[in-house]
Amino acid sequence: MHILLMGPPGAGKGTQAAKLIDHLHVPHISTGDMFRAAVKEGTDLGKKAKEYMDAGKLVPDEVTIGIVKERLMKPDCIKGFILDGFPRTVIQAEALDKSLADMNIKLDRVVNISASDDELVERLAGRRVCKACGQPYHSKYSPPACENTCDKCQGEVYQRADDKEETVKKRLDVYHAQTKPLIDYYSKRGLYVEINGEQHIDKVFLDLCQSLASENP
Ligand code: AP5
Ligand code: MG
Ligand code: ZN
Repeated sequence: MHILLMGPPGAGKGTQAAKLIDHLHVPHISTGDMFRAAVKEGTDLGKKAKEYMDAGKLVPDEVTIGIVKERLMKPDCIKGFILDGFPRTVIQAEALDKSLADMNIKLDRVVNISASDDELVERLAGRRVCKACGQPYHSKYSPPACENTCDKCQGEVYQRADDKEETVKKRLDVYHAQTKPLIDYYSKRGLYVEINGEQHIDKVFLDLCQSLASENP
C-alpha cells in the first residue's frame, strides 16, 4: 500500500507510522527524520536544513523534493510506503504526483490526522524522541518504560530542538499557511480521509486501520 500521512506538527504522524510499519512492512519515509539524520551526520544538506528547522520554517521545496525523489527510486518503494510529512506545499504535491506517475505508482490513501492547536502545543512541549530510531514518546502520556531509554532499541530519548514553545508556534503558523491547503488538493480525489487525532493513540490507530482496510475512504 502507498499511503500518505498528513497532519499538523504533533498530530501523531510519526507515532501512527511506527505502529503501521509493524503491520504493513513497507518503508516509513519521513522527511523530518531524513533531515535530522543529515543534521546528525553534519552533511551539507544537514547544515542547510538545520537553519530552517531551528527557525520552524520549511526547508526549500527544491531541496526537499530532491531528497524524496532520490528515496522513492529505491526498489523497496515499489510494494508500498508510508510518506510522513511530505508533501507540505502544493509545489511538493505536484512534484510527488509527477514522480509517482513516472514510476507507475498510485496512492492508495491520503490520511489527514487532525488535532487542535492547543492540543498540539501541549503534545510537542512534552514530546521526547529516540535519537537512534526516531520512536516518539511523551513525558506524560507515553513515556518510555525506562527513563530516557527507548523501549524499542535502547537508544537515548531526547527533546527535539524545534520543540521549544516559540518554535512550535511558528511551525503551527507555517502549517496553517502552507500545508493546510493540501487538504483541498487531495480531498478532491476520493482517496482522502480525515481521522480524529485527539483520541487515545490506540483508537487513532484503530480508525486508521479500518480506513485502510475499507474499499472506500
Ligand atoms: P517533522 O519532523 O515532519 O515535524 P512535524 O511535521 O512538525 O511533525 P512532528 O514530527 O512534530 O509531529 P508528528 O505528527 O510526527 O507527531 P508525533 O507522532 O511525533 O519536520 C520537522 C521540520 O523538518 C519541519 O519543521 C521543517 O523544517 C522540516 N521539514 C520536514 N518535512 C518537510 C517538507 N516536506 N518540506 C519542507 N520542510 C520539511 O507525536 C507528537 C507527540 O504527541 C509525541 O510526544 C507523541 O507521543 C504524542 N502523541 C501522539 N499521538 C497522541 C495521541 N493520540 N494522544 C496523546 N499524545 C499523542
Ligand atoms: Mg514526526
Ligand atoms: Zn529507539
